[in-house]
Amino acid sequence: MFWNNKVCWITGASSGIGKALAESIYLRGGRVILSARSAGMLNSLTADWEDKDRTLILPLDIGCHEELTQAAQKAQARWGRIDVLINNAGVSQRSLAAETDFEVMKTIMDVNFLGSAGLTRAVLPYMIARNSGIIAPVSSVAGKFSTPLRTSYSASKMALQGFYDGLRAELHSQGIHVNFIIPGFVKTNISINALKANGEKHAEMDPNQAAGISSEKAARIILKGLEKNKREIYMGIAPKVKLALFLSKAFPGVLAKMLRSANVK
Ligand SMILES: NC(=O)c1ccc[n+]([C@@H]2O[C@H](COP(=O)([O-])OP(=O)(O)OC[C@H]3O[C@@H](n4cnc5c(N)ncnc54)[C@H](OP(=O)(O)O)[C@@H]3O)[C@@H](O)[C@H]2O)c1
Repeated sequence: MFWNNKVCWITGASSGIGKALAESIYLRGGRVILSARSAGMLNSLTADWEDKDRTLILPLDIGCHEELTQAAQKAQARWGRIDVLINNAGVSQRSLAAETDFEVMKTIMDVNFLGSAGLTRAVLPYMIARNSGIIAPVSSVAGKFSTPLRTSYSASKMALQGFYDGLRAELHSQGIHVNFIIPGFVKTNISINALKANGEKHAEMDPNQAAGISSEKAARIILKGLEKNKREIYMGIAPKVKLALFLSKAFPGVLAKMLRSANVK
């Protein structure tokens, strides 16, 4: 019922969590706008979907910030509204800060932080005009505490926390909700697509992700959390991550020591 005919724009819909979200929302009767760089993957995902009137494929590189306003205009024009924006597209990192090319640091911030915040900024006027909307940025537990080999990734996700906590307060009286999504370990290609120091793909499955929950389960938890308007929606939180989240708040000095030898590969 909740998702029936809701216009939902999902970035990073070609793979992993975004793909599962797009499928789940379509199956629940929603109208789905799918974005990612690879149009081919989006086309093959929707090939079997019978109700083409409920889908729009909108290829987009969210790191190309000058394209965001026009993309938002196209998304809005399709059904005259955008009910839900799920800012899910993201790229991870596998490199020591001292060895990482500046361009790689910049790409991670451009995609994970400015891409998300920029697309939200482009969509907001439409939501404000209707006094209605849901904005759901996908962050990470790395946005709560940082680890070795993820310095720029963690910084980009912490920046999201700062941006969206303030935005939630700004929009409180305007009928627009900000629901922050925080995955722990979900079995996707995130580590395979992660950037190394020189910008090449890591191309390896991380054992933590391999042991994580499925994208489909993550999507179910996310959709339930959005239905209940939860401020933060956690999923795939392994016991060691749960401990680190607790220590980051209660005993940050202890966590800082533990992170020196964290097994994060
Ligand atoms: N999996 C986990 O354990 C985990 C944990 C914490 C947080 N997360 C977060 O969850 C989100 C989804 O990741 P995932 O795990 O599903 O990984 P994934 O399988 O690698 O999917 C990433 C998605 O982002 C898209 N993307 C990457 N760069 C883009 C760009 N410049 N413009 C537009 N789309 C872009 C990719 O599509 P194209 O390559 O086709 O553009 C792909 O659809 C990310 O924000 C990630 O940080 C995941």
